[in-house]
This record gives sequence, structure tokens and C-alpha cells, in this order.
Amino acid sequence: MSFKNIIVTGANRGIGLEFVRQLLKQSNSPKNLIATTRKQSPELDSLKSTHNNLHILNYDATNYDSYDDFVKQVESIVKNEGLDLLINNAGMAIRSTLETVTPKDILTNVEVNAVAPLMLTKALLPLLKVSAATGRKTLVANISSAMGSIDDNGLGGHYAYRASKVTMNMFTKSLSVDLKSDNIIVMTLHPGWVVTDMGGPNALINTETSVSGLLDVFNKADMSSNGKFVDFAGKERKW
Ligand SMILES: NC(=O)c1ccc[n+]([C@@H]2O[C@H](COP(=O)([O-])OP(=O)(O)OC[C@H]3O[C@@H](n4cnc5c(N)ncnc54)[C@H](OP(=O)(O)O)[C@@H]3O)[C@@H](O)[C@H]2O)c1
Repeated sequence: MSFKNIIVTGANRGIGLEFVRQLLKQSNSPKNLIATTRKQSPELDSLKSTHNNLHILNYDATNYDSYDDFVKQVESIVKNEGLDLLINNAGMAIRSTLETVTPKDILTNVEVNAVAPLMLTKALLPLLKVSAATGRKTLVANISSAMGSIDDNGLGGHYAYRASKVTMNMFTKSLSVDLKSDNIIVMTLHPGWVVTDMGGPNALINTETSVSGLLDVFNKADMSSNGKFVDFAGKERKW
């Protein structure tokens, strides 16, 4: 893995925690892996006790007033090297059918899953630009979902969650255009249907398979991947 300085949001459980586990296990583990959480995490604390390169920071997605302080903490960790990989993983799924959906549910889901990752990317842009300017591969990986694909929507429903991920996909596309000249790659990813609190017990794959596939996608990414919607198996998805 060529990424030296990495942030994973929502790292205390599910797919985010598995990113941390696998990144720490790699033979060339990142110099600094910043895992964010909203609360004390025994799993992350235990990993930290054996990995000096793991840093645990508090990040509550919609607490925008805390972003300045968050960026300062990241800066103090990565110093003048900048940030190579931002994995916008934190997310929520509010169940909504046509009968139950409310404006509040849609707005909350879109805010947490799309608005906050965009604002975090914006706040961290100076650090991402430092990495890219030194010629290192710099990637913003937005963990989206096939549920955000209009083309894939054969089942309907899920108004709040689908709205949040289709919005994330559109933000990804705009970022990929706006940041192309800075040599920053921006991708949107479908992690598969994964056994987690969100995916439930009947999901098709485990976190190990999802994350090892996504890390492979990140490793292979280059400017030709910019603005692409790709799944954990490396397959390009329809919008
Ligand atoms: N599992 C699937 O099948 C699947 C499929 C497609 C896409 N995804 C996407 O993959 C990502 C990870 O999902 P997962 O299955 O690992 O879900 P999960 O097990 O429910 O974990 C969600 C993570 O996001 C964090 N989070 C939620 N709201 C947050 C907020 N407002 N601020 C900061 N952190 C917040 C949670 O922190 P707390 O513990 O503090 O709540 C937790 O760490 C999500 O973006 C999800 O939409 C998952």
C-alpha cells in the first residue's frame, strides 16, 4: 500500500473497523492511520495498544463546528506530509417505505451520508493537496452503495438511504472534476452487501471480503479511476 497517511471515518465497528484491522496487518502498514469514532471503542483501544501508528480521533459527522479542531489534530499527526487517503465510510441507514418516509428522515440521512463527507473532504483539502503536490497517490474514497444507483433500483423504497447515496455519488462526480487538476483521485465505492449492524445477518459477504476487495481497488486506482463508481470486486457500476 503506497498510502502513508490515512483517515477512516466510522472506524469503531463494521466496515470501518475492518479497514483499520487490515491496514494495520499489512507488511507496509501506513505511517499514520487515523481512525475516527464518536465514542470510546474497546476494539480500537486494544489495537492502539499494539500499534503506535494508530491514532483515534473523535469525529461526529454533523458537528461542523468541530471540523477546524479535527483538521488541526490531523495536521499535528501527519505534519508536513499531508493526507494520502481519506475513506469517507461513516454512515447510517434510516429505514423508509413510501408509507413511513418523512422529510426529516430524508434530510437527516442525506446530511450524515452525503453533506458531511463533502464538508469533511473540503476541510481536509489543504492536506490532500499537500500529498498530491509531492507526487504521492492521493485518493478520496467515498463509501457509497449500489442503493444509490438509479440504474440498479428495481425494488423501490428506501427513500432516505437511496437519496443519501445518490447525493454522495453526485458529489463524488463533481469533486472528481473540480480536483482533477490537483491530481486528487475521487471515487465512489459499493462495498457489497456486507454482514454488519447495517447490512444485517443475511448479507452476502463478510467485512473481510469487502474490505480486502476495496483495498485492492484503492491500490490499483490511478487518474483513470477518477470519478468512477466501482464495487469491492473492482467492477464498474452504472449510475
Ligand atoms: N453493510 C452493508 O451492506 C453496506 C452496503 C452498502 C454500503 N454500506 C456503507 O458502508 C459504510 C459502513 O457501513 P457499515 O455496514 O459498516 O455500518 P455500521 O456497522 O452501521 O457502522 C456505521 C459506522 O458509521 C458511524 N456513524 C454513523 N453515523 C455517524 C455520525 N453521524 N458521525 C460519525 N460517525 C457516524 C458509526 O458510528 P457509531 O457506532 O457511533 O454509530 C459506525 O462507526 C456506510 O457508509 C454504509 O452506508 C454498507
